[in-house]
Amino acid sequence: MPPPTDATTAPDIPADWPALWQQMLHARTTGQAAQPLHWCAEHGWQLASAESSRSAELFTLYKPLLDARHGGRDTPWAVAQLGQSLDGFVATVTGDSYYVNGPHCLLHLHRLRALCDAVLVGAGTVAIDNPQLTTRRVPGPQPVRVVVDPAVRLDGRSRVFRDGQGPSLWVCDARHAALARERLVGAPAEVLAVDGLLDAQGDGYRPALVANALAARGLRVLFVEGGGMTVSRFFTADVLSRLHLIIAPVLIGQGRRGLRAPAHDVMADCPRPPTRTLPLGEDMLWDLDLSRSRRA
Ligand SMILES: NC(=O)c1ccc[n+]([C@@H]2O[C@H](COP(=O)([O-])OP(=O)(O)OC[C@H]3O[C@@H](n4cnc5c(N)ncnc54)[C@H](OP(=O)(O)O)[C@@H]3O)[C@@H](O)[C@H]2O)c1
Repeated sequence: MPPPTDATTAPDIPADWPALWQQMLHARTTGQAAQPLHWCAEHGWQLASAESSRSAELFTLYKPLLDARHGGRDTPWAVAQLGQSLDGFVATVTGDSYYVNGPHCLLHLHRLRALCDAVLVGAGTVAIDNPQLTTRRVPGPQPVRVVVDPAVRLDGRSRVFRDGQGPSLWVCDARHAALARERLVGAPAEVLAVDGLLDAQGDGYRPALVANALAARGLRVLFVEGGGMTVSRFFTADVLSRLHLIIAPVLIGQGRRGLRAPAHDVMADCPRPPTRTLPLGEDMLWDLDLSRSRRA
């Protein structure tokens, strides 16, 4: 079977995009420039020219991920995404999220996976969706699949732990690691035990410790894919450099919440990070630059 290409799975992707994507993968994997891309010390990866404005926009969307890994890095860097309804939900009350967003967004998810060292999801997403977390919809490398389940609530039978389609890590608090290992007997996945991951009250965990533990294993460019609780925790802990909020023109009414940001009493204190928008089919992607607001 020929390798999948964006052009075959989404007909309105411009004709020049597959070649540009290959050059971006080359830059991601080797750090070397190849036309039409070049590296500029001041501004990071640059696109000399693109045949279509749409490809130039897509390059701009993914450029921060390429910039983040250029020249190697010691510290973690993370992008997250959430596909939300107009009224702020990522799934219905039953957990059904197939599909909040359209096919362009699926391609977008797979591209983000391919540009990162690891794709990370919460235990709720694994329990409800049983996702594969592969890059099967686009050409590109398979990142390490990471499940954050600090108190080991999963049973270890999910696809991501058993299907062998890529390396997988079950991240938990070190106090629960023995149980996770027991549940993984015979599975190719590994347990990543993190000391002090669960906070003292036992009602939350420290996302920065997850990111640091992954960075210590060489997984430094991270994609936090969902669900709402996990992205919100990483957001609130200030671990994210970028957030892609993809708003779908649908009303869910009640369900699993999307992004929950820390509360403020007055509008003047509410952060307004720099943003850009890009339509993805019927959906609208909001690209939030959180690194700049963090520095401010
Ligand atoms: N639209 C999107 O972009 C998108 C992306 C990914 C997922 N999703 C959807 O998001 C939903 C999941 O998101 P979420 O915010 O609820 O969770 P999540 O962020 O995936 O995972 C964290 C939550 O899962 C809970 N959890 C842990 N073990 C569980 C288990 N065995 N069964 C059920 N829940 C468990 C955790 O509870 P404790 O803290 O108490 O352990 C925690 O609240 C799913 O419906 C999925 O389809 C949507």
